[in-house]
Amino acid sequence: MAKVLVCVAWPYANAAIHLGHVAGSLLPPDIFSKYHRLIGNEVLMVSGSDQHGTPITVKADKEGVTPEAIADRYHEINKKAIEGLDIEFSLFTKTHTPNHIEVVDDVFLTLKDKGYLYKKGTQQYYCPKCEKFLPDRYVEGICPACGNEKARGDQCEKCGKTFEGGELTSAVCLHCSTAPEMRETEHYFLKLSAFHQPLIDWISGKENWKSSVKLFTRNWLEAGLQDRPITRDMSWGVPVPLPGWEGKVIYVWFEAVIGYLSASKEWAKKIGRPEEWKAYWQDPEVRSYYFLGKDNIPFHTIIWPAMLMGYGGLNLPYDVPANEFLTFKGDKLSKSRGNSIDIPSMLQRFEVDAIRYYVAANMPENKDADFSWSDFETKVNNELVATLGNFYHRVLSFTYKHFGTVPEYKGSDDDRKEVFDAIEAAAKQVASDLEACEFKRALKGIMDLAQYGNRYFDGVGPWALIKKDRDACGSALNLNLEIVKALAVMSYPFMPRSAKGAWKLLGQEGDLEATGWKAIAAPLSGGQKLQEPKPLFSKIAAEKEDAGSAFSGFSALNLKVGQITEAGNHPNADSLLLMQVDIGKKVQIVAGLKAYYSPDELKGRKVVVVSNLKPAKLRGYESQGMLLAAEAGELVTLLSPPEDAAPGDAVNSGMVPGEKQIEFKDFQKLTLRVGTVVGKGKVDVGREIRYTGPEVAEGTRIAVFLPSPEASEGLAFFTEKGAPVVGDQRLPGGATVR
Ligand code: MF3
Ligand code: ZN
Repeated sequence: MAKVLVCVAWPYANAAIHLGHVAGSLLPPDIFSKYHRLIGNEVLMVSGSDQHGTPITVKADKEGVTPEAIADRYHEINKKAIEGLDIEFSLFTKTHTPNHIEVVDDVFLTLKDKGYLYKKGTQQYYCPKCEKFLPDRYVEGICPACGNEKARGDQCEKCGKTFEGGELTSAVCLHCSTAPEMRETEHYFLKLSAFHQPLIDWISGKENWKSSVKLFTRNWLEAGLQDRPITRDMSWGVPVPLPGWEGKVIYVWFEAVIGYLSASKEWAKKIGRPEEWKAYWQDPEVRSYYFLGKDNIPFHTIIWPAMLMGYGGLNLPYDVPANEFLTFKGDKLSKSRGNSIDIPSMLQRFEVDAIRYYVAANMPENKDADFSWSDFETKVNNELVATLGNFYHRVLSFTYKHFGTVPEYKGSDDDRKEVFDAIEAAAKQVASDLEACEFKRALKGIMDLAQYGNRYFDGVGPWALIKKDRDACGSALNLNLEIVKALAVMSYPFMPRSAKGAWKLLGQEGDLEATGWKAIAAPLSGGQKLQEPKPLFSKIAAEKEDAGSAFSGFSALNLKVGQITEAGNHPNADSLLLMQVDIGKKVQIVAGLKAYYSPDELKGRKVVVVSNLKPAKLRGYESQGMLLAAEAGELVTLLSPPEDAAPGDAVNSGMVPGEKQIEFKDFQKLTLRVGTVVGKGKVDVGREIRYTGPEVAEGTRIAVFLPSPEASEGLAFFTEKGAPVVGDQRLPGGATVR
């Protein structure tokens, strides 16, 4: 029995986690830890919400709330999503806690006392218009290395290059688009240069590392290590624990990586043995694994190890099996790009094991992997359900029906050995793959055994055999049940729910987790009562989410919540108004609304904006979008986003918003209506049809997309939070949207 420390990259608390997080960093450590617990090891698995830094303040600014409100909101959402995925942390905490701050202060002050931190005046981006220093994320410009036009002040996401400050070409302040200037400010620096040789020596021993991780780290080291500023001019974060440093905080990355240690200490306190964390951090025999996506590599293979070396007395990472990205149509899956597949909504629609299966089967272990709804559907239906689910179900239901118990084995030793050899070979391969963090291959080994089981079952032909020779049939089923049991145990790290389900249907005593991996080789006892089986997996229908589906016309649109900040008469046209609208960024919109609204009525109003219409000049002024309004005879009224929506929120009904610009004439081809809700899932658009979308009180006017004017089914417009776009109560059912 050994102890294992499993550290998982802390998701930022600025948005709900999406499939990319699950594939990149959350699921692999859970599979790994569940396996280790099955073989009897003690696992400490920690992570939490990364609550500081600019990802949080950006979101808070956008919504006009405090960073803490954002950080705690998404902490709760993500904690729940992680539990919903059956991912079991020893502790999933957060960085904005007194414990974390205390541990960070200790590391900071210790490194400072040992001479690894020093202070220095630096040049920082400063926005003369906003009158403040700009955190890296508030500066955008062109990466001098690769030409990416959306590189941030500190790092280019495209090529991974990091910047010390000032290197970006054509930099702008993201608050106000002004070109920032460089100004002097004082900061603490981490003396990374002092760790150059120790890190090179340390890395050279890492034969077990993925070649990509090692190569990436080597390249970094070869480029030389620059000392790095580890404090920032901002107020949200862990305050620098020194007098005279008010208004400055510790750089989010420097303190977030300390989270692994602070969470271990918090866990130890929580279980009532406050020194227990030491067993995982100070015993050199204990291995620590760090699971993360590739963009996090340098922080875990260079910066954190350097901090640990400087601090002294704590274990360095044993392995850092970083994953590549899960992409969507080739683009990184992330909230900021509006193509996220977030976990709370996935969990509402699909069984957790289907999600876990798909992510593990399509895991970006050695190269990026692409997500698509049709691939999701294919893998779940044609592999998980058709192979594993089918095998479980046919064996269990046939045996239950004809025997009701585990039949005694009365066959030959040779037959039995053949099956047990197959099981043992599979178990051995799966175990060694799991130990090596080769999750995809391990899952393939399990599915191959299920396939073997299906062939074996077919070969036995139990339907005929049961009529001819009941004992022989019973013996063959006994061996099939052995395969079922082995599959349940082996698949537990991947799909714990169905594994426990199969275990229970087998009538096994004790629970699967406690019995552990050794149950694979321990023969089933004949006579054990089986439970009435029901299928453990079901087919999914996800493909309609893909482009090419009935609703694809709608997903070509990129709809956003907007707020009108300025409105006035168009200088050159009688019927037009000229408006500035905040849709997460400022856009100018020209609309023919003058007959229906005065500029004053519009100012401050929230609206729904088609944000990807090709810009058009209307009487000399460019219109960069269109407001959605409903029209019924004389009545023209703007549609309203839900009350809790903020400018920039997506209104794409859970679908992927359109990325390409569309022409106005294509927009006009879409059938958009306002209808009156007349019951659960039913809306009157001049006639009664069904709609997909949130449940809404009867009588409410909602906006609906119809695949065709005659369609009997529509899609309501709603935001990520699941709230609908509504129309004026005076509108008749069937009013058109334009
Ligand atoms: N929040 C970071 C991200 O999502 C990861 C931080 S890992 C930590 O990229 F260890 F530093 F917390
Ligand atoms: Zn500015």
